[in-house]
Amino acid sequence: MVLSIQVALAALLSVVLASKWWNYRSHMTKLAAIPTVGHSGLLSSYLSAYRFIKRGGAIVQEGCDKYRGGPFKIPLLDKWIVIISSTDMVEDFRKAGDHELSLQEAFRETFHADLVLGKQPAVDPYHVGVIQGALTRNMASKLGDLYDELAAAFNDEIPATNEWVETMAVEKVLRIVCRTTNRIFVGLPLCRNEEWKDIVIDYATRCFTASQSINLSPKFLQPFVGWYVNPRPASFKRANKHLRPIILDRLEKEKMHGLDKDAPQDMLTWLINSGNVDERQRRDPVNLVLSILTTNMGAIHTTSMAFTHALFNLALRPELIDILRQEIEPVIQEEGWTKSATGKLDKLDSFLKESQRVSASFSISVQRKPLKDFVFTNGIVVPAGTIIVASPRAIHFNESNYPNPSEFDAFRSYRLREAEGETKGKNMSYKHHMATPDSSYLTFGVGKHACPGRFFAVTELKLLMSHTLMYYDFKFSDGADGPKRNEFGGRLNLDETTKLMFRKRGDSN
Ligand code: HEM
Ligand SMILES: *[C@@H]1O[C@H](CO)[C@@H](O)[C@H](O)[C@H]1NC(C)=O
Ligand SMILES: *[C@@H]1O[C@H](CO)[C@@H](O)[C@H](O)[C@H]1NC(C)=O
Repeated sequence: MVLSIQVALAALLSVVLASKWWNYRSHMTKLAAIPTVGHSGLLSSYLSAYRFIKRGGAIVQEGCDKYRGGPFKIPLLDKWIVIISSTDMVEDFRKAGDHELSLQEAFRETFHADLVLGKQPAVDPYHVGVIQGALTRNMASKLGDLYDELAAAFNDEIPATNEWVETMAVEKVLRIVCRTTNRIFVGLPLCRNEEWKDIVIDYATRCFTASQSINLSPKFLQPFVGWYVNPRPASFKRANKHLRPIILDRLEKEKMHGLDKDAPQDMLTWLINSGNVDERQRRDPVNLVLSILTTNMGAIHTTSMAFTHALFNLALRPELIDILRQEIEPVIQEEGWTKSATGKLDKLDSFLKESQRVSASFSISVQRKPLKDFVFTNGIVVPAGTIIVASPRAIHFNESNYPNPSEFDAFRSYRLREAEGETKGKNMSYKHHMATPDSSYLTFGVGKHACPGRFFAVTELKLLMSHTLMYYDFKFSDGADGPKRNEFGGRLNLDETTKLMFRKRGDSN
């Protein structure tokens, strides 16, 4: 009797193992059709994976040069990733539904979202719908507040003086963007609180470092490493101290007066009122704190990097400054700091778009996980579970997408819009607009999951840039070269030591 149970168990075990082995074999056979960059032997693939952390950009470039638009795969420590670099394959990305290619599942695997962000934002990210809906819808009515905070933040961080003042650009911009954005996320007075700014700026950096550390560890150590480096418990505790009293107060008022028209209109209220999620979940203070932290994580560093790149690109090309001022000044004089005004800044839009293309194209960025084997239109098959990532750099520097791709041509898309009658309200198409994702413009990703905050981000960037151009002169410190680029595992980071000089705008202009 005992023996036969053992035999049965052993038989069962061999069936399970055999089928696992079979699945693994068939997975690898499908992947074998895709060429490899780097080594694919068991041990040497570990070497390639480490090399990738140091020289990710160069390795992806090697693959793009060699396979010219065709896909290739790269070994990371614990998995293969497939990289695509042609607009046709990105177009398949764009069209695929969630049941085929999932951003959320890719994010959970590569970013360890369940751990660093928390279960609720990782598994049921209802903040995405709130950003797409309420935040975007309310932008026109909130723009006055947004600009008010922006101007106050500039005054405090970079007081306009007649003398040139040297600043650490990355740090200053982060604090200005953080405060401005949080005016719309959590409102006054919290958006001005120094500790609050530290908490949300820090959290994003720690999340990236933490997920990198986990990815660099052997699989069996990952749970321990994750437990050790997870930034969430500490950040949650600090954020909770500030946010919980505000949340409890709003929930109390909501209970007494129902959905209150007089409630402060900000991300926190919109999350509480979100229609995408059940009552218990949307009113849970823990979920609310996590959602605010996660939204900040998506918003602050991305927008700050884009603004800093734009400042650097203007400091490198001062001849653009007057052209942009000539567009901005009459519009702001006529319309004030309004949503409608930012919609008319077509040259600024084109410049910001080009600045992202040339300076901020990651070698790999937009990722999806196939939930079943994914078949591209060109017949290439990627087996279920293998992360696929697009290479914005390859797409953005491909001659057939951007003639003379290495040239910084600030008004590239402005000219296309003029030629196609898109500017000046003659044609309501926004094809070449910065906030319009396209399989040849991947700054905000592509398809249904393209960045939900992109309309907010572009509007905020236009306000930041217009304010700077109207009230300041700026340049690199005397004798300094332009900013250096830092790369880390396929990410592109700004050089945090780059200094910019600011002064009150002179009369000469
Ligand atoms: C210049 C600034 C920004 C850049 C370059 C940027 C870029 C991106 C990219 C590339 C993605 C992935 C899209 C894809 O895979 O197709 C994304 C997703 C996301 N972004 Fe942004 N973003 C910016 C600003 C913002 C802002 C201001 C917010 C919040 C208000 C935000 C919130 C999010 C969220 C929540 C997601 C995840 C969407 C999802 O899971 O479906 N981003 N962003
Ligand atoms: C540029 O893109 C086109 C179309 O997607 C593709 O055929 C070509 O091979 C690409 N060139 C390189 C260098 O990747
Ligand atoms: C409007 O713009 C789109 C895309 O930019 C273009 O395809 C279309 O021909 C334009 N229509 C007119 C009437 O100019």
